[in-house]
Amino acid sequence: MTTLTINGQTHEVDAPADMPLLWAIRDLVGFTGTKYGCGRGLCGACTVHLDGQATRSCITPIAAVGDREITTIEAIGDDPAGASVQQAWRELDVVQCGYCQSGQIMSATALLQGNPAPDDSAIDGAMSGNICRCATYARIRAAIHEAAA
Ligand code: FES
Repeated sequence: MTTLTINGQTHEVDAPADMPLLWAIRDLVGFTGTKYGCGRGLCGACTVHLDGQATRSCITPIAAVGDREITTIEAIGDDPAGASVQQAWRELDVVQCGYCQSGQIMSATALLQGNPAPDDSAIDGAMSGNICRCATYARIRAAIHEAAA
């Protein structure tokens, strides 16, 4: 058994130690807002926070999480920066197909938690690991500026 703290609640999961955190979150605990894209740490769709740090859950085994707090898209609105990001996303109508957007929002929130007023290059650096097939990048950048305002 592995104990995971997700969105403020502890969950006992009966799974191999090398199970990627993504599958524990989605299949064992039932938070399906975190998405599977590439499974190789390349696309960012699976991004969650571990103690506030944006982390690729598809390449993070549950054994490596330890007692760190896991936050998923389902609870990011409880954080002031996360709530601002979500509001800006709605106001600027960022989403197209939506598949990558929970990961985008998790990375954007981690950025703003560490840097409340990022410039374009800080945004591009922080968001470079989150791929969007619909190419919503310009709206994402604008929404991060809006959330920071
Ligand atoms: Fe994890 Fe693509 S699914 S980075």
